[in-house]
Amino acid sequence: MEIFHISAECYPMAKVGGLADVVGALPKYQNKAGHQVRVVVPGYDTKFKEENVFESVYEGDVKLGNFSFPFRVLKETSDKLGFELYLIEIKELFDRKDVYGYEDDIERFVAFQSATLDWLIVRGEVPDVINCHDHHTGLIPFMMEFGYKYSKLKNVASVITIHNGLYQGQFGFDKLNYLPEFDLTHVKILEWDNCINSLAVGVKCAGAVTTVSPSYLNEINNWANGLESLFNMSRHKSKGILNGIDIEVWDPSKDKMIEEQYTIESLENGKQKNKEKLCSQFDLDPTKPLFSFIGRLFDEKGGDLLPQASALALSENFEEINILILGSGNVIIEDQLKSLLNDYQGNYNVFIGYNEELAHLIYAGSDFLLMPSRVEPCGLNQMYSLRYGTVPIVRRTGGLRDTVIDFGDKGNGICHDQASVGDIYYSIGRAIGLFNDKKSFYEIRKLGMGIDHSWESVCQEYIEVYNIIIQAK
Ligand code: GLC
Repeated sequence: MEIFHISAECYPMAKVGGLADVVGALPKYQNKAGHQVRVVVPGYDTKFKEENVFESVYEGDVKLGNFSFPFRVLKETSDKLGFELYLIEIKELFDRKDVYGYEDDIERFVAFQSATLDWLIVRGEVPDVINCHDHHTGLIPFMMEFGYKYSKLKNVASVITIHNGLYQGQFGFDKLNYLPEFDLTHVKILEWDNCINSLAVGVKCAGAVTTVSPSYLNEINNWANGLESLFNMSRHKSKGILNGIDIEVWDPSKDKMIEEQYTIESLENGKQKNKEKLCSQFDLDPTKPLFSFIGRLFDEKGGDLLPQASALALSENFEEINILILGSGNVIIEDQLKSLLNDYQGNYNVFIGYNEELAHLIYAGSDFLLMPSRVEPCGLNQMYSLRYGTVPIVRRTGGLRDTVIDFGDKGNGICHDQASVGDIYYSIGRAIGLFNDKKSFYEIRKLGMGIDHSWESVCQEYIEVYNIIIQAK
């Protein structure tokens, strides 16, 4: 079947978080499984766009209220991604470096959605499925169903995949005229809590809703930033599908970004070499257990707990452990983390920012990965960490609950129930015990490395969802 994924992010073109990793990998494996898969993202001014060759396949003008913006559809010309990548280049709205965070984000993403559909209706045959991702593409199922211009797409199956239900893309009805003309008798569908809520619209109108883990689907029925009742009502058409990881990009035996490649058989030696490199780079002690955090420094990820938990663990266990943090986000958290540098020199370091290459080395060179998330719809980092023989320490929530089982229950990691400084500190204590029990530590690392989280086994579940809605159409 022909499948279109429409998203704000796709690795390696534009990445802010896990959404990019999923949209850069799932299509590749669906393609390998014999489908024709295309991905559409906005044409931001990223390094990838600058360094690759694109061919213009369509030019048009997209309407946004009283404005009209010229746009081009660019197709990436190499075969290296494993799927066809298209960029919607709307100069005035997307010739910027960052993906999000602009005052006109609503305008940008509404125009992106309209331009994508403007192109799809003139492109020839319509696809079998349009898979939207998160709120930035949540209006598409509505436009397909009720937009006068897009009647050709009315019978195309649509799916919305929720990577994070906290963000919903709300805006006021004063911007209603941004939407391409539609049958106004359906205007009520756009409304949730007196706003146009893009995510809610997607959930209401899509033929199926998927979340990125089964546990997250259960959780959003109880807590979803105001959309709980909607998720409950949509339960009949919803499915939680655990994300996979791209085992070609994340493979310690072939990874060019790490110091020493290794397999399950060479895990101890391989990890030690990577740890030495990492420790020399960050002035840490390679003989002590290394706890790392990689991610966005926000409350959602438990980022606010890290400064205090690190200070507590380091002061109580000084000279017994190392902590390394890679991330950026909330400036207050960043400052608090930096302020610890003086006190714990030699055992603690922090890199503010994001660096894909460094992330690979951290997975390879760490002993434990901290993920004290308050909300984690799936989480990919714990899966990367398992694959690199690094033991995840997670709060039981969402996809973390589905992928990490405490070693006390013969599992692959360390789990705690609360997102609290105390719980993190207690888990670090258990981890030190585990680290000192060399045999158990080795066994648990081996267990993690052997788990198969590849997309090959998961991507079929998406196809099953598509088939159900195609048949129902
Ligand atoms: C979002 C979620 C994360 C998930 C990722 C990919 O970033 O916060 O939990 O793994 O999307 O689906």
